[in-house]
Amino acid sequence: MPVLVVVGVQWGDEGKGKIIDLLSEKADMIVRYQGGNNAGHTVVIGSEQFILHLIPSGILHPGKLCVIGNGVVINPVALFEEIEKLESRGIEVGNRLRIADNAHLILPYHTFMDEEKEILRGEKGIGTTRRGIGPAYSDKAGRIGVRVVDLFEEDILYERLKSVFLEKREFLERRFDLEAIFKECLVWAEKINKYVTRTDLLIDKAIEDGEYVLFEGAQGTLLDIDHGTYPFVTSSNATAGGVCTGTGVAPTKIDRVIGVAKAYTTRVGAGPFPTELKTEMAEAVRIKGREYGATTGRPRRCGWFDVVGVRYVVRINGIKTLVITKLDVLNDLETIDICVGYRYKGRIIDEFPHSLKILQECEPIYETLPGWKSEISSTASFDDLPEAAKRYLGRLEELTNTEIGLISVGAERNQTIILDETLTMS
Ligand code: GDP
Ligand code: IMO
Ligand code: MG
Repeated sequence: MPVLVVVGVQWGDEGKGKIIDLLSEKADMIVRYQGGNNAGHTVVIGSEQFILHLIPSGILHPGKLCVIGNGVVINPVALFEEIEKLESRGIEVGNRLRIADNAHLILPYHTFMDEEKEILRGEKGIGTTRRGIGPAYSDKAGRIGVRVVDLFEEDILYERLKSVFLEKREFLERRFDLEAIFKECLVWAEKINKYVTRTDLLIDKAIEDGEYVLFEGAQGTLLDIDHGTYPFVTSSNATAGGVCTGTGVAPTKIDRVIGVAKAYTTRVGAGPFPTELKTEMAEAVRIKGREYGATTGRPRRCGWFDVVGVRYVVRINGIKTLVITKLDVLNDLETIDICVGYRYKGRIIDEFPHSLKILQECEPIYETLPGWKSEISSTASFDDLPEAAKRYLGRLEELTNTEIGLISVGAERNQTIILDETLTMS
């Protein structure tokens, strides 16, 4: 049984939730390894829509075990809310969720600091989701974070909070009360206890027993703290490498990495985006693709597929198979552009630059293909796709040096064309 990682290959919101849900049918265990409730993964089942933030998107399949690994930062209030919401909709969570005892917590002051910092940065802000992600990971790296396991060790917890209050006194004084946060932590300890375990051991055993383990990436590789468009990134490793640090699973145990790509590109928040469209076309795609953030509701910036970015991401993650989503959103277009290179100061660049300045000044070089101008959202097989759509997909495969394993033509589970049967077989 495979050990499979699913990552986003652009700036997030590629449709990972839908794909994870689809693959979960055959999986035994679904694991989140990084990020927090900045993620918003949408799953549509008939007339019902679910948006998962912290809980793995496999939860909608009865009986599957869902794990939140140590690399995830957990806001306990958001977690309990999400569990309650799902349970109120008839989804059983209680016995199917496991949380790493060494995951770090997002505490109320992290959310507050995220907001304050964004306000202070004004127009130069990153456009974070304001969920406290950056400040929580900063404290983790700064060794003043609070882990889940610390909730059960009152002396350690109290001392840790004391050092946080000492280090951040300008920010926290008069706004937060140490005693009140300490008491709140003790309440959380009771509520979270039943989910907490050594998830590193749990996942390892599942792999050793030959179970199908699916790792669910959040955000996208171009938002990765190391490999993304820094500083316009999130604060975790969204790449496949994040699985090892974010769960304690060894790299030699991973069989395969699948990349999820939208048939075009979107970005929410600030930062460079070479193929961004500022024309009516962007608005048309935004409306048809319902490109509004699943977590914050912000309109997403829209643009063409960027081969330079995706090729870079394919290499970093070791992706051989791509899933292309939202192909149906391009149905009405006369022509479709693919960015095949960048022009920078008269030179042609085909490697994604790390320099923010260069990336901001790069001009995309486009190859233009004809659109298919027809409805494909109920197409069930590749052969039935219009020739122009096949040509577009074929060109994406050639240019990114990958094979397309799944094509999504609508938000629902059955609006999927399966090319690589191994992905949906048990
Ligand atoms: P994620 O963060 O990668 O899970 O993606 P989001 O859930 O934030 O955004 C993807 C959006 O596109 C959601 O509203 C999905 O329901 C929707 N979606 C996913 N696949 C398709 C598709 O193939 N076609 C269309 N039209 N919508 C899709
Ligand atoms: P999913 O998992 C799209 C973006 C924010 C901002 C930057 C930093 O649904 O694909 P943060 O709050 O993480 O400090 O914000 O990252 N961002 C996302 N964009 N999809 C996401 O998650 C994102 N999570 C964070 O908009 O630009
Ligand atoms: Mg999303």
